[in-house]
Amino acid sequence: MRPYRLGIVGVGDISHAYIDNLKLYPDIVTLAGCATRHYENAKKKAEEYGIEKAYETAEEMIKDPAIDVILNITIPEFHAFYNRMALENGKHVYCEKPLATTFAEGKELAALAKEKNLLLGCAPDTFLGSRVQKMRELVESGIIGEVTAASAFITCRGHETFKEDPDFYYREGAGPIMDIGPYYYRALSALIGPVKKCAAMTKRTWPERELLIGPRKGQKIPVEVDTHATVLLEYVCGTIATLILSFDTVETMLPRLELYGTKGTLSMPDPDPYDGPNLFGGEILLRTMENTRWFSLPRPEEETSRQAIVIENDRPFTSTTHAYNSRGIGLIDLLMALEENRPVRAGGEMALHELELMEKIYEASRTGITQTLETTFEIPPVLKPGELEP
Ligand SMILES: NC(=O)c1ccc[n+]([C@@H]2O[C@H](COP(=O)([O-])OP(=O)(O)OC[C@H]3O[C@@H](n4cnc5c(N)ncnc54)[C@H](O)[C@@H]3O)[C@@H](O)[C@H]2O)c1
Repeated sequence: MRPYRLGIVGVGDISHAYIDNLKLYPDIVTLAGCATRHYENAKKKAEEYGIEKAYETAEEMIKDPAIDVILNITIPEFHAFYNRMALENGKHVYCEKPLATTFAEGKELAALAKEKNLLLGCAPDTFLGSRVQKMRELVESGIIGEVTAASAFITCRGHETFKEDPDFYYREGAGPIMDIGPYYYRALSALIGPVKKCAAMTKRTWPERELLIGPRKGQKIPVEVDTHATVLLEYVCGTIATLILSFDTVETMLPRLELYGTKGTLSMPDPDPYDGPNLFGGEILLRTMENTRWFSLPRPEEETSRQAIVIENDRPFTSTTHAYNSRGIGLIDLLMALEENRPVRAGGEMALHELELMEKIYEASRTGITQTLETTFEIPPVLKPGELEP
């Protein structure tokens, strides 16, 4: 019963964003516990953020009957391990992406959640932010007609340029295909639906990466995953997409994500590769056959002071919320789904589909053969204005 008592496993860099946002929902969730590899870190985090209890180990917390739901924000190689432990101990679980490092593990987790009648959710929840939700509204309004094709580009020089300990980004479960790729697959999935087929070529430009900042500057770390991928996708609805996912490129002039329709184009034009669908808000550009220039759609909070774009029937687009870093609304949605007995928006089915896709990107590259996906999901309903607001 509300508020649900949350136990957080992993208190690293991203935990601040989650905790700050979850604190805005005291009627829905109580920050009841945290645990990580080192007790001292969990204790410090609990004191700093007012979390009720720091546990000696993650296992102790997950097994505690005083905890209802687990947020797993450890590094990718421990996602499946703690997701399984949570489900086996009767806890609902929401995990950072990816759901697991292999499709086989992901299928086991989905089956376990079903068997135990527990909810399984998985990031990224950025697709619930104002930008992708607004794009959904625009697509559904028919303003760009039928979406025939799409593109997405995340091309950057890698996490050693801004992280002191980027090691896990070059290990199993990460790299551009499994770390930042999911924001792009998820946004496209929320806009277009499930993928039917994929073809890909992938490469590992450097076998080691040199750390560029921090106390370990100059140290080399091994690269265990491919770091540049060119991917072609065919969606079930017939749309085809071109993706480049890279940690091997210094700079780019490509947009982040575009949808090409029979009557117009929608674009996420951000110049910075880290400002794509991994953000909740941001600009959308719209170009139609009728308008010979791009319309810039502002962030919703600015909408009242700027011209709102009007569609054919003169209905202005409604504003959606969550334009700022709202990490954790996927978990809030999961808890509301529990109460309302409805499907979870950032649910296990979408995450499992992405996991299958990521594995099949590697398989397509290795074999040179186009891969067909077996999993599917229902596109979650658009967030109504104000929905999931604190
Ligand atoms: N940092 C970001 O900007 C960011 C953004 C979005 C998503 N993410 C995702 O969030 C997850 C965590 O990222 P991060 O940047 O916070 O990583 P991090 O390395 O800063 O923190 C990871 C945390 O997990 C804990 N941990 C690792 N192994 C553990 C184990 N075996 N048992 C218990 N705890 C363990 C660590 O002690 C640490 O507290 C990753 O999946 C990452 O892809 C990170």
